Amino acid sequence: DWTPDSFIETTIAELKAKLGDDKVVLGLSGGVDSSVAAVLLHHAIGANLHCIFVDNGLLRKDEFKSVLDSYKHMGLNIKGIDAKQRFYDALAGLTDPEKKRKAIGRVFIEVFDDAAHEVQGVSWLGQGTIYPDVIESVSVKGPSATIKSHHNVGGLPDFMKLKVVEPLNTLFKDEVRKVGAALGIDPNILGRHPFPGPGLAIRILGDITPEKVDILQQADAIYINNLRSAGVYDKVWQAGAIYLPVQSVGVMGDERTYENVICLRAVESLDGMTADWCHLPYDLLAKISNEIINNVKGINRVVYDISSKPPATIEWE
Ligand code: XMP
Repeated sequence: DWTPDSFIETTIAELKAKLGDDKVVLGLSGGVDSSVAAVLLHHAIGANLHCIFVDNGLLRKDEFKSVLDSYKHMGLNIKGIDAKQRFYDALAGLTDPEKKRKAIGRVFIEVFDDAAHEVQGVSWLGQGTIYPDVIESVSVKGPSATIKSHHNVGGLPDFMKLKVVEPLNTLFKDEVRKVGAALGIDPNILGRHPFPGPGLAIRILGDITPEKVDILQQADAIYINNLRSAGVYDKVWQAGAIYLPVQSVGVMGDERTYENVICLRAVESLDGMTADWCHLPYDLLAKISNEIINNVKGINRVVYDISSKPPATIEWE
């Protein structure tokens, strides 16, 4: 019978036998899968697991530091890399969503490859691939798909020539969460909403600037904190704020304003393939809207997205 504890025991034994004294490099994203894969590998090989966590400048407010701290707290051998400027430089002036995704994927590979080269004598690449990623590789949009689309461009980066170890590739998402809980991983990491690899870059329509990222981070943090304190966060499958580069007229005191719009999105879903918009309480929406407009400079209007998928998608880009 499958239980989280039996899975953990056999997997750690298998990893020890397979890896011996070899070194493994693994990219952490802050998400559930890579975190659980890292902790399992850490139990098996300790400091021979070298984790890399990249700040692409497109994460949620304060997320890089808080996630890095919680990984360190778990005892992982982890290196945080501030690559914000490299991503902003690559994104400058790009407005097409697919071009933005490609640029982010390319820079991520460069940054990760540089970091992997610093691990002397590494022979394995660890990945948090889960069973649905294996069987549905066509529809996977994560880093692995990004990497695949770069296969043909100028040869493989060195880290992709490493042998691959994927301790979760027989598990479904709910099993990964159970294993993570049995491993004692922070519930805040295990219960996180899905967050796209390109991050806030696909929640800012059009071109990306650090100023827009800053505004969206502030609004998104107000939104998510309110969902948490209202006890709604865990009932929603995914939520986030979107920055609309549209200006509209408002009034603040005696002054006329002409500023941008924040859109709030929250959906219920099983797997992201279809989704319904959440009927969040009006009082909660009112509180969030007031807090955003009163506190985030540059925003004078908040709207709520009431579109389901299909025909709308969850993200706006
Ligand atoms: P859509 O917008 O296609 O999103 O309805 C479905 C799910 O996929 C996520 N998503 C992405 N994840 N890279 C990712 O890693 C991407 O480029 C990407 N685009 C969408 C989205 O957040 C939702 O959970």
